[in-house]
Amino acid sequence: MQDVLSMTYLWLKAGHIIFVIFWMAGLFMLPRFFVYHQEAPQGSAEDAVWTDRENKLLKIILLPSIIAVWLLGLALAGSIGALQQGWFHAKLLLVLLLSGYHGYLSAYAKKLARGERLLTGKKLRLLNEVPGIAAAIIVVLVVVKPF
Ligand code: HEM
Repeated sequence: MQDVLSMTYLWLKAGHIIFVIFWMAGLFMLPRFFVYHQEAPQGSAEDAVWTDRENKLLKIILLPSIIAVWLLGLALAGSIGALQQGWFHAKLLLVLLLSGYHGYLSAYAKKLARGERLLTGKKLRLLNEVPGIAAAIIVVLVVVKPF
């Protein structure tokens, strides 16, 4: 029985890390797409191509990945009793912020498709640092568990 539980935990963790990679890859790509998109003239064929690429990235990669990361992460948390641990609360806060960032990008893609270009290329490039910084802190929290 112990073997089954520890194997389940390892498979859940492997799945979790796989989908974390997909989610992060998508979060890194989308603001880059926005930068190139905003360089295309409004209403041009290229404009439409970028809108299509962004929609595909959001629907095919980002949405399934965020769902899988959350489900597998919560299953892991339940299996190791993480809900009472400090590192997990800090991680949860950061992951909630990262999920909010995902929501913000998704809303920005819709605005861009309507022709609203609210941020400059420079601001979008700066925004692109958010998931990298968040991922680095999250990995330290789950691996080192400093508190
Ligand atoms: C979406 C909500 C998330 C929840 C509920 C969650 C929860 C968990 C839990 C409970 C573990 C097991 C820790 C252990 O066994 O000691 C874990 C492992 C891990 N998580 Fe998450 N996680 C989430 C998102 C993320 C994100 C966004 C990242 C990275 C950016 C991440 C990276 C990792 C890594 C690398 C491990 C493996 C740590 C190890 O084995 O030492 N997780 N996660």
